Amino acid sequence: MDLFIDSALYEEIEEIHTWGILSGVTTNPSLIYRSKENFEELIQKIAALVDGPVSAEVPSDTAEKMVVDARKLACLDKNIVIKLPMTEEGIKATSILAREKIQVNMTLIFSPNQALLASQAGAQYVSPFIGRIDDISYDGADLIKNIKKIFTQGNMPTKIIAASIRHPKHVLDAAINGADIATIPYKVFKQMLKHPLTDSGLEGFNKDWNKYLKGDTK
Ligand code: E4P
Repeated sequence: MDLFIDSALYEEIEEIHTWGILSGVTTNPSLIYRSKENFEELIQKIAALVDGPVSAEVPSDTAEKMVVDARKLACLDKNIVIKLPMTEEGIKATSILAREKIQVNMTLIFSPNQALLASQAGAQYVSPFIGRIDDISYDGADLIKNIKKIFTQGNMPTKIIAASIRHPKHVLDAAINGADIATIPYKVFKQMLKHPLTDSGLEGFNKDWNKYLKGDTK
């Protein structure tokens, strides 16, 4: 499973990029709003840094406007993927953009049927929001599992991006249930590194190594 970062903060993306494990980036209008940066400039800057798909959302409400905005955005960099919402207008726009070979990530997916529609419209990616599903006491892991089953049985090429990840267990749920990608917030990347036994083990090894260096063999 590939790992994307779900962030519009350049410093966060830059830091996780230095780990050498990032395959792409997703943003959304709320993340862009919090970044307080110019949308197009920021997306271009991110695409220049990370060699992989960078999802940028087109928050228009008609298919016509979505298509016009998507075409403009897609010109900024070859790695830009247009994020469109799972609405009737979004589906229409996806079908048009797919014919023009502009990549679409259909977002706000909360059911397997929505994923099926997005895939048939030609979306390259679907983003099921597992955290928000869990928030309302449904099962985000199950959503990933069912979408995977449908795509595999139907031989459908659309990739599943597990989104709305809130903690490391969601990353595990995504990987076990067949997501192609997990888009992970900065904070969760940091949490994934951590294990108390790693910390205590390292402390023990460091202590003994220092004793060894001092020639203390007891
Ligand atoms: C997906 O691409 C979205 O940006 C994101 O994962 C939404 O997550 P949230 O539910 O934490 O807002």
